[in-house]
Amino acid sequence: MAIQNAITNNPAETGDTEFVQFWNEVLAPKFIRFRHVLVDGLTRHSEAVFPRLPVRQGDRVLDVGCGFGDTAIKLAEIVGPEGEVVGIDCCDAFLAAAEADLAQTGLTNAGFMRGDAEVALPEGAFDFVFARFGTMFFANPVAGMRNMRKALRPGGRMTHIVWRQPADNPWLSMAKDVVLQFLPPPGDGARTCGPGPFSMADEETVRKMMEIAGYTAITFERVDAPVLIGHNVQDAVDFQLAIGPAGEVFREAGEMAEQRRGEIEAALADAIRQQTKAEDGIIMSSSSWVISARNPET
Ligand SMILES: C[S@@+](CC[C@H](N)C(=O)[O-])C[C@H]1O[C@@H](n2cnc3c(N)ncnc32)[C@H](O)[C@@H]1O
Repeated sequence: MAIQNAITNNPAETGDTEFVQFWNEVLAPKFIRFRHVLVDGLTRHSEAVFPRLPVRQGDRVLDVGCGFGDTAIKLAEIVGPEGEVVGIDCCDAFLAAAEADLAQTGLTNAGFMRGDAEVALPEGAFDFVFARFGTMFFANPVAGMRNMRKALRPGGRMTHIVWRQPADNPWLSMAKDVVLQFLPPPGDGARTCGPGPFSMADEETVRKMMEIAGYTAITFERVDAPVLIGHNVQDAVDFQLAIGPAGEVFREAGEMAEQRRGEIEAALADAIRQQTKAEDGIIMSSSSWVISARNPET
């Protein structure tokens, strides 16, 4: 795809940031292990959001932080053969999975590329820029969102989806509260993947950042949906201790966490047993902002 050659965003030339290294080295194997939660488990959330997206047949679309590529593939189906979708992500293993899934679909209007959205994106090429649960990890969110705006043609549209406050997302916050009964919070020097899932929860702050990044017509829509956090209690416990805010506390506590693993797992299992059970596993509530905006015409 021509677009893929349109930017210099090759880590061999720019060097990976500590956050990009963290995605590749620490998080990728965990995300692959829990892909059934992160992709299939969050599907209920996407199903609520996708029909509302301002994307049309024939659009050229950029999916930023596309992960395993499932949203890019869905978008490629929506825009049809006259349209085109490029998924960009900073993690090699996710892109390999995305390429493999794309090959299975037979779609010829989509492609994936490696890049850091905070460094550069192709400019002026797209009608619609999309990011599901990716912008929250930008260490410099204004720079990342400005690059996303510059990827749009004048008048082009963008939508990014981010988690709302921890209290509205017990599927992520409840386990952290349990783990903190046993372990200290991560210190200032903790290795992370960036600011984290709740960094864009505050409407006023995000609106201001988007204005500074140059967007206009900024709207926030709240979407609440149940998500699947594991096929059974042990799967959900393992997921929580590997990924997300509880996983960060556990990982950073190192040896102390391993010594107390039995107690922590038992307490988490008790808390998870109290959640709703569905045929395919354990269900909890989640809540996001679907934030849409425009690149000005001039
Ligand atoms: C929580 S995952 C969401 C993945 C996918 N959008 C989804 O909804 O399943 C966040 C994704 O953003 C990617 N990411 C984080 N920071 C990035 C950056 N600066 N540039 C490009 N991708 C980034 C990560 O590699 C990861 O795939």
